[in-house]
Amino acid sequence: MTTPKLTSNICDPKINDPKIIVALDYADATSALKLVRQLDPTLCRLKVGKELFTAEGPKFVEQLVQANFGVFLDLKFHDIPNTVAKACTAASHLGIWMLNVHASGGLEMMQAANEAVNKTAHKPLLIAVTVLTSMNQAGLNQVGISADLASHVLKLATLTQQAGLDGVVCSALEASMLRAQLGHDFCLVTPGIRPSNASQDDQSRIVTPRDALKNGSNYLVIGRPITQAIDPLKMLAAIHAECIQPI
Ligand code: C5P
Repeated sequence: MTTPKLTSNICDPKINDPKIIVALDYADATSALKLVRQLDPTLCRLKVGKELFTAEGPKFVEQLVQANFGVFLDLKFHDIPNTVAKACTAASHLGIWMLNVHASGGLEMMQAANEAVNKTAHKPLLIAVTVLTSMNQAGLNQVGISADLASHVLKLATLTQQAGLDGVVCSALEASMLRAQLGHDFCLVTPGIRPSNASQDDQSRIVTPRDALKNGSNYLVIGRPITQAIDPLKMLAAIHAECIQPI
């Protein structure tokens, strides 16, 4: 693989803090790099999920990091505490910006993950998935959880905060509630973002980019509305323009 050609390589994600995280849900590096080469790391971060990571592995993640992108490694670890802690250590060594586990793995698992990343030289933000944005109340009931969906999200987010993690993945529909309950320093990362005329796809709990920020989201994860747009850069620019308008 060659290093992506960038429109700018002056990026310290901590200073620029771009709000848009583009989900690189592609089958292989070649397809992902077609888009990545056109992106500016000062304007967006990148998310590598299970499909691309399984196909291309850690070297591809390191390549994005070396190209100055803030990378969210979205592998949603969910296993026994020892296994998750070790996976988090290995992931942190890739130089990524953010990493996640499933909050439903429990307090002990999240504490083990947190301790593990805290010991690494370049600690990534560690967040936990509450209820997937593809789930609705009926889906939650099907897996044996009879609680109201929003209450369940709050319960898992509270547990995440108790474990010492930096924040959660949730729907922007729950962001204002979590912001009010868990304070301003808790990071809220929200997938299920759809510009008003975009397809819902398999997402259930969707919100527009601007409403997500209004509700208190810190970062917006956006995949298909950008990656499957006829002109992905134009779509990203339109979403970016919407995001930087004063709320
Ligand atoms: O294409 P779309 O914008 O729906 O992509 C959303 C991305 O966010 C996907 O990569 C998906 O795996 C991820 N995600 C999600 N819901 C969560 C956590 C992550 O949709 N709760």
